[in-house]
Amino acid sequence: MKMKIIILAVILTLFGSQGWSQLHFEKAEYSQRRENLMDKIPDGIAIFRGSSLQNGYLQYYQFNDLIYLSGLEIPDIVLVIDGVDRSSTLFFTISEDEAKGEGIPVEVVNNPGKFNGIENKFPMEDLSSWLESRLEKVNVVYTPFTSGEFPGDVSREKTRSVKKSMTDNEWDGRLIRELQFAEKLKERFPDVEVKDCFNEISDLRKIKSKAEIEVLKEAGRIGVAAHKEFIKATAVNVREIDLANLFEYTCRKEGAQGLAYNTIIMSGENMPYGHYHRYNRTLLDGDFVVLDAGPDYKYYDVDFSTSFPANGKFSPKQKELYELAEEIRKVCIKSYKPGITLGDVGQEVKKYLVENGYDPDERRFQGFIRYGGYNHSVGMAVHDGMGSWNGPDEVLRPGFVFACDINMNYRDLNICIRLEDTVVITDDGCIVFSDGLPRSVEEIEELMNQNINNNK
Ligand code: GLY
Ligand code: MN
Repeated sequence: MKMKIIILAVILTLFGSQGWSQLHFEKAEYSQRRENLMDKIPDGIAIFRGSSLQNGYLQYYQFNDLIYLSGLEIPDIVLVIDGVDRSSTLFFTISEDEAKGEGIPVEVVNNPGKFNGIENKFPMEDLSSWLESRLEKVNVVYTPFTSGEFPGDVSREKTRSVKKSMTDNEWDGRLIRELQFAEKLKERFPDVEVKDCFNEISDLRKIKSKAEIEVLKEAGRIGVAAHKEFIKATAVNVREIDLANLFEYTCRKEGAQGLAYNTIIMSGENMPYGHYHRYNRTLLDGDFVVLDAGPDYKYYDVDFSTSFPANGKFSPKQKELYELAEEIRKVCIKSYKPGITLGDVGQEVKKYLVENGYDPDERRFQGFIRYGGYNHSVGMAVHDGMGSWNGPDEVLRPGFVFACDINMNYRDLNICIRLEDTVVITDDGCIVFSDGLPRSVEEIEELMNQNINNNK
C-alpha cells in the first residue's frame, strides 16, 4: 500500500512538474510557436487581444491566434510578443471566483508561465504604462487587422461578410474590434508604425508540428465516426435535421468541443447550392446526398465530405459519376509528397484522364488539373489563412495540411459528388486524416445496408 502511494506521488510530481496537463500542448510547443513569430518580427512587438465572455451562458472560447500562441482560455487577455528582446508578456485581471465560475483552472490563472512558458504577467491596468515605456525604444507594432476567429468560424467568409455589413457598408462604416485597436494604437503612439500580422501568423499556422498532427489525427477519428453514423442512419423518409443532430451528437460524444463549421447537407433539389445548411428536407427515394462536415477538437478542424444515395443503393449513373471522382481522388492522394507542386499533382490527374479516355479539357476537370485536388488550407479554422501562397506552384512541404476536395456538381442531374479529405504532407508522402471513411461504392452500400430501412 505504502509503495503504491509512493509510486502515485512520483507520477503526480512528474506530471505536475511538466505543467502542461491543463493546456492542450506542452510548454515547449507554445514557446516554439512564439519563437517562430519573433523570427518574423525582429523589428517590433506583436500585440494580440483575446476574446471576451459572451452572454447567454455560451461556452467561453478564445480566439484561435491567442490559443495558438498561449493556450489560455482566459477572457480579455492581451498578449505581447516582443521580437526585439525576444520575450513575451501577458496582461489580464480576473478574480479567483470569476475564474472558478467559468471553469478556468485557478493554477493556470495564477501561474500561466508554468504551462506555456510566457515569462511575464501583469494586471491589465498596467498595459498602458508598459506600452508607453516599451514604445520609447521600439517603433513597430504588429497586430492582426482581421476579425478574431472562434472555433466554428469559417474565417475568410467571415472577413468578407464583416466587410459587407460593417466596414465597407455606407450605412455603417464601423471598424471591427481589431482595426479599432490598431487605430487606438496609432492615436496614442503617433510615432509608431502599426502593421498587420495576419500573414505572419498564417504562415506559422499553415505548417503543423508533430504535436498538432497528433491532435488532427484524433479530430480525424472523430470525424470518421460521425460520418459513418450519419451514413448508416440515412434512409428514405429520414429528416435531414435528425441526421444533422446525429452528426453533432456523435462528434461531441467522441470528445469534440463542437463542429468545425455548421454541418452542410445537400440533397435532392438543393444539390446545386454548394453549402446548403437548412436541414429542411425529408429524404426521398432517388435522392443523392452530400454530407460536408467535421468536428472541432481542441481548436483544430478537419473537413470531410461524403456522397451517397439516400436509399442505400447507387443507380448506374450515380455509380459511374461517383467512381470517376473516386479514381481522381486516389490519383491525388497517391501523388502527394514533399518537394513537388500542386500543379505536378494536377499533371498526374491529367495523365489518368487521358489514359482512361476522358477529355482533360472538359470544364469539370480544370480545377483538379490546375491544383491537384487542393482546395484550401485546414487547421484551427476550416478555411485556414493561406500565408504565403503560390497557387499551382505551391511546393508541398511536410506539415502542410489541406483539403483534397474532389467536387463535381452535375446540376442538371441533381447529383453532386463531393469526396473531401483532410491530408497532411509527411517526409515521404501524406497522412489522410479521413482514413476509415467508406469511400468505394461497395463500402458505402455495405454500411448503408446495416440500416434495416435500407434492407426491405
Ligand atoms: N467544408 C466547407 C467547404 O470547404 O466547402
Ligand atoms: Mn472544404
